[in-house]
Amino acid sequence: MSLPEVLEDTARGLLERHLVRAKEWFPHQLVPWGAGRDFSPSDLGDEAGQLPPGAASALWVGLLTEDNLPHYFHVIATAFPPDSAMGEWSRRWAAEEQRHATVIRDWVCVTRTLDLMALERARMRQLCSGFRPGQKAHTVTDGLVYLTLQELATRISHWNTGELLEPTGQAVLRRVAADENLHFLFYRDMVSAALALDPDDAVMAIDRQVSAFEMPGSGIDGFAQHAAAIAAAGVYDFGVHYEQVLLPVVINHWRIETVEGLGAEGESARDRAVARIGRFKRVAERMDAQRDPAKFR
Ligand SMILES: [Fe+2]
Ligand SMILES: [Fe+2]
Repeated sequence: MSLPEVLEDTARGLLERHLVRAKEWFPHQLVPWGAGRDFSPSDLGDEAGQLPPGAASALWVGLLTEDNLPHYFHVIATAFPPDSAMGEWSRRWAAEEQRHATVIRDWVCVTRTLDLMALERARMRQLCSGFRPGQKAHTVTDGLVYLTLQELATRISHWNTGELLEPTGQAVLRRVAADENLHFLFYRDMVSAALALDPDDAVMAIDRQVSAFEMPGSGIDGFAQHAAAIAAAGVYDFGVHYEQVLLPVVINHWRIETVEGLGAEGESARDRAVARIGRFKRVAERMDAQRDPAKFR
């Protein structure tokens, strides 16, 4: 699918901006190799009991999600011509994403903080089953909206996971979160351009994706239990999704409430999305009153 010319130009400009902002970094430099030792065949490497509650689930889901890159890449790379700016972006993006699984897995192996046999089996199951992100990507704009929300959610999730770990783990997760932030900015600004070009199409995509959004990793075995542990640890939950994703992006940055030039369908999509976000806000406020403020930042 080719993007309209104006979005192709936007993608080219955002790719160039990304290449200036992205700092080169090396996974091997972040891993405390000196703390490692060989594994025997019967050695599970399971030191997860030493992690704070929820940290094992957050690492598990975060790493398996990064491992699922081939499925994400397939969806994005096959949606655009290879010689387009989006085609070029998809390859650069995938190369950066691959570092994330590399550095997190290397850190986990050296620190023995997850059961590595169970992890490898879960990775094989997930990749072989074929990832279904759960979103209804009706259009290219749907995909861009989903990716905006997903990259920001992943940034927050990795960062907060790092806050539960000792300094080397924290440095790894902070480094990965910094990459996710640049990815988020690329997709967010693509959606801004889509809103200016065709507000009806963009607002309808935002409405669908706000309604259908699921955290990456929702296809992992036992995801519901992991998600509960992740929420209890203060890494990611409904309140974070409202306060740190929907509010700053959909309401404050895309300014969905004041988008102009909408037809009847766009108007009702906007009203639906704003009402839904309002409901998220009320639930988030109730949760805010109940949770431990020290766990969230
Ligand atoms: Fe990533
Ligand atoms: Fe990313």
